[in-house]
Amino acid sequence: MGVRELKTNIYSVGAVDWDRRLFDELIPLPDGTSYNSYLIKGSEKTALIDTVNPTMMDVLVKNVEELGTEDIDYVIANHAEQDHSGSLPRILDLYPSAKVVCTPKCKDLLMDLLLIPEDKFITVADGKTLSLGNKTLEFIHAPWVHWPETMLTYLREDGVIFTCDFLGSHLATSDLFVTDEATVYEAAKRYYAEIMMPFRITIRKNLQKIKELAIDTIVPSHGPAYDKPDFILNAYKDWASDEVKNEVVIPYISMHGSTKKMVDYFAEALIERGITVKQFNLSEPDIGKLAMALVDTATVVIGSPTVLVGPHPKVVYAACLANALRPKLRFVSIIGSYGWGSRMVEQLSGLMPNLKVEILEPVVIKGVPKEEDFKALDMLADEIRDKHKAQGIISEQEK
Ligand code: FEO
Repeated sequence: MGVRELKTNIYSVGAVDWDRRLFDELIPLPDGTSYNSYLIKGSEKTALIDTVNPTMMDVLVKNVEELGTEDIDYVIANHAEQDHSGSLPRILDLYPSAKVVCTPKCKDLLMDLLLIPEDKFITVADGKTLSLGNKTLEFIHAPWVHWPETMLTYLREDGVIFTCDFLGSHLATSDLFVTDEATVYEAAKRYYAEIMMPFRITIRKNLQKIKELAIDTIVPSHGPAYDKPDFILNAYKDWASDEVKNEVVIPYISMHGSTKKMVDYFAEALIERGITVKQFNLSEPDIGKLAMALVDTATVVIGSPTVLVGPHPKVVYAACLANALRPKLRFVSIIGSYGWGSRMVEQLSGLMPNLKVEILEPVVIKGVPKEEDFKALDMLADEIRDKHKAQGIISEQEK
């Protein structure tokens, strides 16, 4: 993507990665992504906000040169992760007088990860400002969105806040600003679920911290910019709140059909009780979709057959993922089947110590489900309905 003007003397010089399909060799990117970088030309100084993934270094360099940039005074490093800092060494080679402006923690990380010499850095305290002449940058420390060194940069005169990963979306688009809110909402929720959800409480503090700023435009480092800031701020407030939905997410796998029979019966039983159900077959999962479902569900019921006395390995993977993402859910249970013996419940429970949830009595049966097993599933569905009601978790229709 070539140079585009965000506002007067603020230029988008980053890159759109239409083809990338995996991040961290883990996270699916069904819609690609972008690595946003901005060049700000003040009346006296020029600053570059973040860089791009090393694979897209040439795009950044070409865009910066195209603007006739003779010098860069400051490179603002809001985040040390490679997709934003990986092109820093090349920029510092091309513009040797440039200083890297970042938090002290970010400096440590950049020295370790990219071997940038110490004399290249200016570290800034929370709330410090830097003048570019007619434009002023204010630095807001925002640790743990999503690394310990993360920072936001607020351009006062223009009301623009550069938020790096915070509030972003993995979405390749030629639009500089959000045009299709539904598409961006989906991509931003996926991003929140995969990257930000473990830091829900910190996110609330950071939202509070920027509340008093006059924000005209929010510019994350992935996906389009928000010229209607409330769209993404309200979405984040909702996702990071303590509110959960009257939903049950069922990640499951079945080898010979018994667990599948249980899951299908149980899903129907929940639906009859007015509960929304989201089922995920873990044989070929999109873990992003599962993570999104975990953002606001009240309950998860894991379905698994027994493999060598434990849960199916793909269920283990999903349980580890849920444990790492720390969704705000309230209840967990387990259903499934075994042939001759099972320690599935103990093993699965032990894999999710981060989840502060109530474990509801599992239904783990021998062989194919029989009449009494279906009754046990009905009882679990009753219990979930009653627990949700007792905690005031009701469906949108009931509100
Ligand atoms: Fe987009 Fe945490 O890097």
